[in-house]
Amino acid sequence: MKAVIYRDNGGPEVLELHDREPAEPGPGEVRVRVAVSGVNPTDWKTRSGATNPKLYAEVTPGLDGAGVIDAVGPGEDRGRIGERVWLFLAGAGRQVGTVAEAVVVPADRAVPLPDDASFDLGAALGVPALTAHRTLTVAEDGPRRLHPGALDGKVVLVAGGAGAVGHAAIQLARWAGATVLTTISGPEKARLATAAGAHHVLNYREDDPAAEIRKIAPDGVDLIAEVALGANLALDLAVLRTRGTISTYANDGAKRVELDVRQNMTLNTRFQFLVLYTVGSEALAAGAEDVAAAVADGALPVGAEHGLPLTRFPIGRTADAHRAVENGAVGKVLIDVGGTA
Ligand SMILES: NC(=O)c1ccc[n+]([C@@H]2O[C@H](COP(=O)([O-])OP(=O)(O)OC[C@H]3O[C@@H](n4cnc5c(N)ncnc54)[C@H](OP(=O)(O)O)[C@@H]3O)[C@@H](O)[C@H]2O)c1
Repeated sequence: MKAVIYRDNGGPEVLELHDREPAEPGPGEVRVRVAVSGVNPTDWKTRSGATNPKLYAEVTPGLDGAGVIDAVGPGEDRGRIGERVWLFLAGAGRQVGTVAEAVVVPADRAVPLPDDASFDLGAALGVPALTAHRTLTVAEDGPRRLHPGALDGKVVLVAGGAGAVGHAAIQLARWAGATVLTTISGPEKARLATAAGAHHVLNYREDDPAAEIRKIAPDGVDLIAEVALGANLALDLAVLRTRGTISTYANDGAKRVELDVRQNMTLNTRFQFLVLYTVGSEALAAGAEDVAAAVADGALPVGAEHGLPLTRFPIGRTADAHRAVENGAVGKVLIDVGGTA
């Protein structure tokens, strides 16, 4: 099979295309022929050595992807062979990720993908959708699970609604019944966030987002899905309702965070930080189940017309796919792996 590998941490040039023997699935595992792999910022950060230690002499990158199960481990349901699936955290802590024509994963990380959902959609779910799910399910007064009606009456603010996680957060929050506000940096991203389903889109560079948000939600925002805590903390605290939640999954821009303790005590602010790698099996299982239900409802479409433009590369240009994500490609970067061809 074709597989992209790297032996040393470094720039995108360390990625090489090789032929490798596909592994056999063991107990509790399935093997998936990968059609499409989805690239996330964590892929280039891990490859570069900035995050996550390198555990193997040779590593194939890729957490997300979609394809077809072609083998199951001893004791696994043989009826799953031929099933279309989407994958999450496929390469986390493992040697081979999704930029290979065949990948072996724990059976519960291969989630059924309905026939009317494309492999592109499946490959775009993993990291963004599960991260978004977690941000929306950590408030003190719930909900812990998402389904239509779960966020009825809640006001959710998604920072950076044209980002991959932001996009998924808008779609999931809309599906669950929230009023969704989002911030963006310009007109093209405003168009995308609106296409994703946001009710109100605010330019955080030009408008006065705090005043605009207070006009829309005079009692304040219940929940904030935050991509840049340092840059946005003042805005978040200006619009959060008492006992509201700020769910932080990144600090893009890397601005230092300084907390005014008294201000946050008065607000009874709930801060929740999260990184998918250590979120725990319960949260992952809940996220995968709810995201699958949202996909079945047709609530998580992809493509520019739905707010998530797709940029694709053949497997032989995986280095360019990583470069695109590192350079801030808008939407989702996909790699055509071709394992189901
Ligand atoms: N904790 C986790 O488990 C987890 C999971 C997934 C991703 N992440 C991290 O989350 C970040 C985003 O990932 P992604 O895949 O969504 O990337 P992405 O598609 O590149 O989106 C990032 C978005 O954030 C926006 N942004 C940056 N600074 C902002 C600010 N001050 N206010 C509002 N929006 C801002 C960007 O747009 P503008 O700059 O134009 O505003 C962009 O739309 C990355 O750092 C990634 O590593 C963490």
